[in-house]
Amino acid sequence: MTEKKNLPWWKNAVVYQIYPKSFQDSNGDGIGDIQGIISRLVYLADLGIDAVWLSPVYCSPQDDNGYDISDYQDIDPMFGTLSDMEELIAEAKKRNIRIIMDLVLNHTSDEHRWFLEAKKSRENPYHDYYVWKDGVEGELPNDMKASFGGPAWEWVPELQQYYFHQFSVKQPDLNWENPKVRREIYDMILWWMDKGVGGFRLDVIDQIAKEPDRKITNNGPRLHEFLQEMSRETFQKGDLITVGEAWGANTENAKLYSNPDGSEFSMVFQFEHVMLDQQPGKEKWDLAPLPFVKLKQCMAKWQEELYGKGWNSLFMDNHDLPRIVSRWGDDKEYREESAKMLATVFHGMQGTPYVYQGEELGMTNIKFEDITHYRDIETLNLYRERLEKGYSPEDVMRSIYAKSRDNARTPMQWSAEENAGFTDGTPWIEVNPNYTEINAEAERRDPDSVFSYYRTLIRLRKEYPVFIDGKFELLMEEDEQIFAYTRTSDEGKMLVCANFSGEPAKCPLITEWKDAQKLIHNYHGDVADGLRPYEAVMLWKAGKN
Ligand code: GLC
Ligand code: CA
Repeated sequence: MTEKKNLPWWKNAVVYQIYPKSFQDSNGDGIGDIQGIISRLVYLADLGIDAVWLSPVYCSPQDDNGYDISDYQDIDPMFGTLSDMEELIAEAKKRNIRIIMDLVLNHTSDEHRWFLEAKKSRENPYHDYYVWKDGVEGELPNDMKASFGGPAWEWVPELQQYYFHQFSVKQPDLNWENPKVRREIYDMILWWMDKGVGGFRLDVIDQIAKEPDRKITNNGPRLHEFLQEMSRETFQKGDLITVGEAWGANTENAKLYSNPDGSEFSMVFQFEHVMLDQQPGKEKWDLAPLPFVKLKQCMAKWQEELYGKGWNSLFMDNHDLPRIVSRWGDDKEYREESAKMLATVFHGMQGTPYVYQGEELGMTNIKFEDITHYRDIETLNLYRERLEKGYSPEDVMRSIYAKSRDNARTPMQWSAEENAGFTDGTPWIEVNPNYTEINAEAERRDPDSVFSYYRTLIRLRKEYPVFIDGKFELLMEEDEQIFAYTRTSDEGKMLVCANFSGEPAKCPLITEWKDAQKLIHNYHGDVADGLRPYEAVMLWKAGKN
């Protein structure tokens, strides 16, 4: 199989996402940092992951926790120094772990040197690095809204102009139409490549080719032209993993983003599945139960459409999403079973799995008593805006408990010691009180833990090529409880079968697989055609079937 020899390394890889602020503090200031990450590389190597995606650690006023960058080529003192970063890259390399940097290229911080210059005058060489509109104070150019609330336009009296921002006012949008902007970005990327990074995650990359005059934000007409140029000028000069974050991705444009010819990225993050449990046409805060059959159809569609034509990324969690075990599992009675079940279903598919810090422990959502404990700009703005619109505080808190980004941002739970072993100081955001039960120290000792289960899943992916190239087929499509599919390759056939509910479920097809080899199972004992709550299993039959 010549194709396998030439397999890009990232097709076989599992990526671990670190949210640096909440991972490990090393100096007692309550904020996670790079030295903290270095001290935990042993843990990551033990889990078996191949790469770490680091959420931004560049200089930043932290209006949006680092997604507002004021210097792309330096590290924020809060996280350490450039030499700490170099040390991290080198130390990780010793353990065969590559470091993936987060590139925020749609916007900078308003404290970035380019924007400070741009604001000085219309003639300033940096003025055209951003998106401006002449106007009159108080008369907005149009009714476009920013993602974190309020209008997408901000008035600058000295210039008698508005600037455009898709996120907070402190995140002015870059003007990608300007070739100088693109060149600066490419040079910066090459500089990081020179430092030995293993790849890049590209923040809201489908929004760079905006045309606010026509109210176009994502999937602008020049998007793929820009991406191909960037890839040619930078990524293609190295052996990198690249993944674009694209909320507006569909299976058609995903084939461009992840074209096997390497002309854009290795893969994209698409979000169709994580937008199913909200009311159609509304915001994520407008909650709705998960339509399970639709989830299966959605996942199957992505598996089938990208087969041989692109590459999927597989994720359930990240720093913007609630904890999956609280969201689609049961974080009480069946926490361990359901966390393992979800992992089984996702890791069995074709694509590169991403594990978000704490997911491998089955960490849960947080319910802070009131809004004062929350830190996320999106959550805080939502609370204010919805109260102004007349929603009751209880109503808004319900949405926040379900969907706030802070659910994923409470400190990593390392041990049962004070502050979960995250810091000796006062953590910047409070620790989830369940750390005394749910923590890495306890789980690493326990062969039945969620952690041990993830470690096995990650190992299996490396042992059975069917994970990489097996063709996907969804079974029992209409069933309201069972998620079942097969993956078939030259070597054999794998069955993944999971009860996605807290009630027992019938699964007759297990009978046909009675004699198959069990790869992983989240309960003790035999599997039968009746699956227990959240029971999941992966079975394997070698040879032609
Ligand atoms: C992405 C990031 C998110 C950030 C936003 C603006 O969606 O994942 O955390 O707030 O982009 O940069
Ligand atoms: Ca610190």
